[in-house]
Amino acid sequence: GPMHVSLKHDSAHKHVTGQAEYIDDIPEPAGTLHGGLGLADRAHAQIVSIDLEAVKAAPGVVWVMTADDIPGANDVGSTGRHDEPLLATDLVQFHGQPIFAVFAETRDQARRAALLAKIEYSDLPHWSDIAGARDNGAPFVTEPMTLKRGEPEAEIGKPPLRVQASMEIGGQEHFYLESHIAFAIPGEDDDVIVWSSTQHPSEVQHMVAHVLGVPNHAIEVRTRRMGGGFGGKETQGNQFAALAAVAAKKLNRAVKFRPDRDEDMSMTGKRHDFRVDYDIAFDEDGRIHAVDATYAARCGFSADLSGPVTDRALFHADSSYFYPHVHLTSQPLKTHTVSNTAFRGFGGPQGMLGAERMIEEIAYAVGKDPLEVRKLNFYGQPGSGRTTTPYHQQVEDCVIARIVDELEQSSDYQARRQAILEFNEQSPVIRKGIALTPVKFGISFTLTAYNQAGALVHVYNDGSIHLNHGGTEMGQGLYTKVAQVVADAFQVDIDRVKITATTTGKVPNTSATAASSGSDLNGMAAYDACRQIKERLVDFACRQWKVEKSEVEFLPNRIRIGGDTVPFDTFVKAAYYDRVQLSAAGFYKTPKIHWDRAAGKGHPFYYFAYGACVSEVSIDTLTGEYMMDRTDILHDVGKSLNPAIDIGQIEGAFVQGMGWLTTEELWWDAKGRLRTHAPSTYKIPLASDRPKIFNVQLAEWSENAEPTVGRSKAVGEPPFMLAISVLEAISMAVASVADYAACPRLDAPATPERVLMAVERMKALG
Ligand code: MTE
Ligand code: MOS
Repeated sequence: GPMHVSLKHDSAHKHVTGQAEYIDDIPEPAGTLHGGLGLADRAHAQIVSIDLEAVKAAPGVVWVMTADDIPGANDVGSTGRHDEPLLATDLVQFHGQPIFAVFAETRDQARRAALLAKIEYSDLPHWSDIAGARDNGAPFVTEPMTLKRGEPEAEIGKPPLRVQASMEIGGQEHFYLESHIAFAIPGEDDDVIVWSSTQHPSEVQHMVAHVLGVPNHAIEVRTRRMGGGFGGKETQGNQFAALAAVAAKKLNRAVKFRPDRDEDMSMTGKRHDFRVDYDIAFDEDGRIHAVDATYAARCGFSADLSGPVTDRALFHADSSYFYPHVHLTSQPLKTHTVSNTAFRGFGGPQGMLGAERMIEEIAYAVGKDPLEVRKLNFYGQPGSGRTTTPYHQQVEDCVIARIVDELEQSSDYQARRQAILEFNEQSPVIRKGIALTPVKFGISFTLTAYNQAGALVHVYNDGSIHLNHGGTEMGQGLYTKVAQVVADAFQVDIDRVKITATTTGKVPNTSATAASSGSDLNGMAAYDACRQIKERLVDFACRQWKVEKSEVEFLPNRIRIGGDTVPFDTFVKAAYYDRVQLSAAGFYKTPKIHWDRAAGKGHPFYYFAYGACVSEVSIDTLTGEYMMDRTDILHDVGKSLNPAIDIGQIEGAFVQGMGWLTTEELWWDAKGRLRTHAPSTYKIPLASDRPKIFNVQLAEWSENAEPTVGRSKAVGEPPFMLAISVLEAISMAVASVADYAACPRLDAPATPERVLMAVERMKALG
């Protein structure tokens, strides 16, 4: 059937020809107004006065909106803490916080008018980063979490070797190609319809209703596709949708809100920067005995998703390694910066990177290849006594040793490493490095309630199929995968299945398409809907043809009923005339999972996805510049639903991860202004930055041990962390200038400047 095959992404041809319709391409009704924003130019201040007379008088301006105009709650925070006003009233908490909105005939008029406001501030003390937050005794934006197992306090002093140090890890801008956008039109009966570029249409619906002070049923939110989300559209679209909806309802006109790239980058949350302070105890072989580590995060001014993000950092602070004694705590620190949010991996990459740094520390301390230290510390098989995570879930499906062994062979790691060591001995300026790092990523939302999904499937009487589900399409191929599940269930060609835009009117109370769980959840919900319709069809066949159930079989585009074979559409038409219900709502909730956050114990993940990556790089020790020479990946997606899409996800995630760890650097100045708010100053990877040799393989033998859709595994986020091998390969090249005598402690992002500084530091050692 159509499952497990490389069908093309349903919109691939539209993406490459520029014909895919995004929200800004929807034809605008006559009289459409455009929104602009008045942004704070202080990081932390009391607002003394606001004079908007010049804004109101500017050409084309129809309405200027402040917090007083909000009919319902002035609150777009997704946590229920009321810590995120839609428009600031008396307090500004970050540079770029929206204070008022302007609606004008054209977008240009709205944006020009917004600059005419006269706002007086009284400055308050501000800090933008983790060091500043610690110096100022900053509060937490949400409750910290602690994970503990064994006797870390007593055990950390026992082994012969111990390292205490820290690692700084930078944040990341999502840089989706389509910036945020919302388009609202007044519907019938006072309702509002909002097109929103969001990963979470249900939350946008609920938030818009909350801001308008109307029931959820008065709002419909639609999302056909996003031009990328990457976590940046999990909560951050709320504000644009709410502003557009308030104006649409008040003015009874269509309203569009589309920030430009600089605004989008200044006023929407990013990946959290982290500082990991670690204390590790280990023996002379490099075997870990105890770990005590603190994970401080730059959260920005409000909670947003900082709770689950910092939790996930702790859940991945073990990477693929068994820690016999462990104590981990998070510090979700408040800073006067935009509120940080979800970004591919959701804190997992930061936690895992800290673990890989610890492995490097151990490797340099005991004089081994980090890969040997990794293998020594991997989780074991059931019964080994080395399967308990710091959160007390057992790792039951561990395939990391096999993945790493296979990749080590297929990439010729050992011989290449030897050649690199020899090259470095005789190369004065250019140095090379190679590193093989593992990935183990927990799949499920750690908020258990989110692990549910719905779908709506209609079979029309001509045999065509209408598919809708709660997941959103951001380029990752979810729509195609779920359509494959439906086509497979009915054994029909994929063209028969119409993929329709996500809308809160068809499937309610959905979760964000996030945590990589889109196909797991929505695929199963769609399958459940198909199962119900198929059961009715089989009953009908038994009635009409007077056969047993075992004599009815769905074959490609036809049904075998006893001795007869009937084309699918003829059969469906007959069922319709017999008054068979040809529509069903499907539902799914992930089994097995539970989590007690206060106790730090449970089974938060349904299963783990695994992978490994070996990267080889060259650095110029005089300038700090580098090149990606080669990357080999072996990744576990279970039994792939669509190998072509999965390989695309792996390649894209790796390159995005590489950008995070190398060239992408966010920089705030002393006034708390983000100065890297455009591609001129913020460097995402170019096509030319990709590894010159780039081999990606799926672990063909893998099959999910749990009964997921088609026995597949989630793929969206896990491969992001494969890029950790790039940072470590650069680190090895740096270490070569001091004959590998010490861990270079290369922080992220390893920009050329930072690489050069690390080289200088290491030269001073040697
Ligand atoms: N791939 C593309 N092309 N665009 C995206 O925005 N987002 C990633 C990943 N892959 C993203 C992507 C993130 S952060 C997640 S959580 C998953 O896709 C979400 O989709 P899924 O659950 O269907 O995998
Ligand atoms: Mo992805 S960060 O879970 O949207």
